[in-house]
This record gives sequence, C-alpha cells and structure tokens, in this order.
Amino acid sequence: MKTIQAIRGMRDILPEQTGWWRRMERQLYAALAQFGYQEIRTPILEPTELFKRSIGEETDIVEKEMYTFEDRDGSKLTLRPEGTAAVVRSYIENSQWQKEPLSRWYYMGPMFRHERPQKGRYRQFYQVGVELLGAEAPAADVELIDVMLQCMGAIGLQGFTLELNSLGCMSCRPSYREKLQIFLKKNQEKLCDNCRRRMDTNPLRVLDCKVNTCRQVGEEAPKILDHLCQDCGTHFQTVREGIEALSIAYHINHRMVRGLDYYTRTTFELLADGLGAQNAVAAGGRYDGLVSALGGSQMPAVGFAAGLDRILLKLLETLQKPETPESIFVVTRGPGAWPAGLAVMQNLRNKGLVVRSDVRQGSIKAQMKRADKDGARFVLVLGEDEVAEGAVTVKDMKAAPDSADKQKKIARDALTSYLLEKLSVANGVGK
Ligand code: HAM
Repeated sequence: MKTIQAIRGMRDILPEQTGWWRRMERQLYAALAQFGYQEIRTPILEPTELFKRSIGEETDIVEKEMYTFEDRDGSKLTLRPEGTAAVVRSYIENSQWQKEPLSRWYYMGPMFRHERPQKGRYRQFYQVGVELLGAEAPAADVELIDVMLQCMGAIGLQGFTLELNSLGCMSCRPSYREKLQIFLKKNQEKLCDNCRRRMDTNPLRVLDCKVNTCRQVGEEAPKILDHLCQDCGTHFQTVREGIEALSIAYHINHRMVRGLDYYTRTTFELLADGLGAQNAVAAGGRYDGLVSALGGSQMPAVGFAAGLDRILLKLLETLQKPETPESIFVVTRGPGAWPAGLAVMQNLRNKGLVVRSDVRQGSIKAQMKRADKDGARFVLVLGEDEVAEGAVTVKDMKAAPDSADKQKKIARDALTSYLLEKLSVANGVGK
C-alpha cells in the first residue's frame, strides 16, 4: 500500500532533534524574562481579512503564500503566516492599552507560508516573536534590537550582521515613493517583469528584488534616508546612538524595505553568515500605524521575529548535543521480582530521578543489553534473592572494573539516598 507522506515543506521534528529545540526554547524564555517580556498565545487560525489588512494586499505573503480556506459557514480563514497581526488583533480585542501603558509580549510557535521549500525555508516554520506596544520613543527600538541580540547570544548564535534602515512615516514616505517611482519609470527597461508590475503598486519592494539588474537600479535609486522628514530623521539618529551605546555593530542598508507593508520608521534584519540565500535569522521594525489600521486607537509599536529553524541549522554547525541527565535502568529476574521492580521505579521517579526498564520482560541478558544501549549510568538488578533480602544489586556502569562501587548490594530503604547522592553530582544538581 502506498504510504502517506508529510506535506511538502512541512516536516517532523523527531525525538532525536527535540532536545535541541527544547534547549533553545528554554534559553529564549530566560533571556526574554530578563527584559520583562510575557508570553501571549494566539490561535493558529485567524480571519483572512486580518492578514490582508495588516501585511498588505500587494505583498508576496498575501498575494501567493497564504494557506487560506473556507470554514463550514463560508467565512475565509488563514493559517497565520506571521505573528504580529494576531498580536495586534488581540491587543485591540482585549483593550490592552487600558490595562497597561506598555505591553511587552512574546510568542513562540508555528507559522505557515506557501513558499518554495529549500534549505532554511519551509512551509511550516517556527518563530519566536517579540512585540513592544505603546512607545514611540527611539528607546523602544533600541530595546527591541538589544532583546534580539541578547536572545541570539543566549542560544549561542555567533557570526551575524545587523542591517538597519528607516522607512519614514506617513508624512515623508509618500513624497519619497513618488520620487522613487519617477526614477524607476526612467529605468524600467532594466527591471524584471515582476518589478515593472510592482513599480506602480509597491515601488519600495523593487529595492529589495534579488534580480541583478534590479539590484543595480536599486543601488542608484534615491535613498529613503535622504528623504526622511525631520521627526523621522531625529528618531533614526537617536536609535543609532542607542545601538552604538550598546556597542552593537550594524550596517545601514537603504535597500532593506521588508516584505510586509505595516512598517514605519526603523526596520532591521539580522543576517547569519554561511546560511546561503535564506540567511535572515531575525527581522522586524516599527509599525506605528498598524493598531489604528486594525480599528484600535493610534498606538505606536515595534517588534521582531526570529526564525528558529534557520537558527538551529546554524547552531548545529558548531554546538555540542545537549546533555541528557544520567539515568537508572531496572532489570528484574523472574516474575516474582517484577512487582518489587515496579515499586522501586515508582519510588525513584517520585524523587525526580530518570528511570527506565525494558517492558518486554525478556531474559536478563536482553535487559542488560537494552540498559547498555540506553546509556544508563546505574543498572539495578532485582532477582528473587534480592527481593527476599529486601535489597537491590546496583551496578555503576561508569565505575572502574576493580572499584567497590562497580557492583554492590544495597538495602532498599537506603537505595534512594545512595542514588540521589551519586546522580546529583553527575547531573550537576545544585550547581
Ligand atoms: P519576517 O521577516 O517575515 O517578519 O519573518 C521573520 C523571520 O522568520 C525571518 O527572518 C526568518 O528567519 C523566518 N522565516 C520567515 N519565513 C520563513 C520560512 N518560510 N521558513 C523558515 N523561516 C522563515 C515577520 O514575520 C514579522 N512578523 C516580524 C515582526 C514582528 N515585525 C514586527 N514584529
């Protein structure tokens, strides 16, 4: 029979890999807590309209990458392609600004985009996203960039470049857009078909086209940073000063416009070395108009999201596998010893120890083999003799062959404290 495969671009994260993920997630939680950010969880499905109104109708995401389908009542739903729109929807729906002047939120979870799958690009991928709502001051942008880099540091990511730009605001961007459009029209024969089309609808997107000739046109095009209004210019300058005060290295990239329409003022991307075409590991910016565009009051905000799949690809190049705690394996000989073995295991697990057994109840030899495969530090053997004596034979698989600890009989009531002492040293408890 033909077997069923996972959907293209979507993949399993198998138990042998989840240790990496869990460690990365733990480290991110800890770093975000240090800055006082709290987790928000929003649904994976949202009304399609939410993404159309926030990300923008003329973007690649909305035009061709969303997983959209009809619900049973005919309403249109979309699997979230990103987290910011949902966070803002929730912020408005829960009148959050009435509860606190500043909201520091983060989320972690799967996002869905129907892109062409390749290394580092998937149709279901995972993001950690961080949003700071309620502050217009440049200090908020600086905090977000600081959070982003601290998160990367906490998970051990090294070797990246921070790129920075400002996209201006609703008062200076339209006139820049016009100037850019005039320039692009003059150079339209050098543009790819896609850019010739976008030139009218979304001219800024032409600037980050990957096609060589379009890139050249983009390099020569008027730069948005030369066309910021005074407020946006001062804002951007102060953001730069803050980043410099934190000794964070960065480049200005005037062609970075981002693929989502909600951005205003500061935008940034973190590019990792050695990841090929999909090298943006985190990206974000300010979106001062989004809360009001979705029906809330005028509320400034800034945020970023990091792609965890890509980060892990990069980490796997260098990092050591996360250590698993040293464990115990219980081997029982004969049916009479099995109930005693169960009680011993229950007792040890209640004390927080990691305990396994071979539930197939094969021969002693087969059970010992399994214990060895599992890499158990201690093997506890319970036969009829041990049961009668109220004892357990403890084998320390790490001890030297001639050591007294290699194999010894221990009374059952002394077993827990003996193992706890040995394992708390090995597993670094109390460090
Ligand atoms: P974005 O640039 O679309 O921004 O995505 C952020 C990050 O998600 C990317 O830099 C990349 O690491 C990862 N990513 C995106 N698409 C894929 C994919 N198909 N496969 C693997 N990784 C991917 C946003 O999503 C904004 N919501 C960020 C933001 C938050 N802006 C303000 N607040």
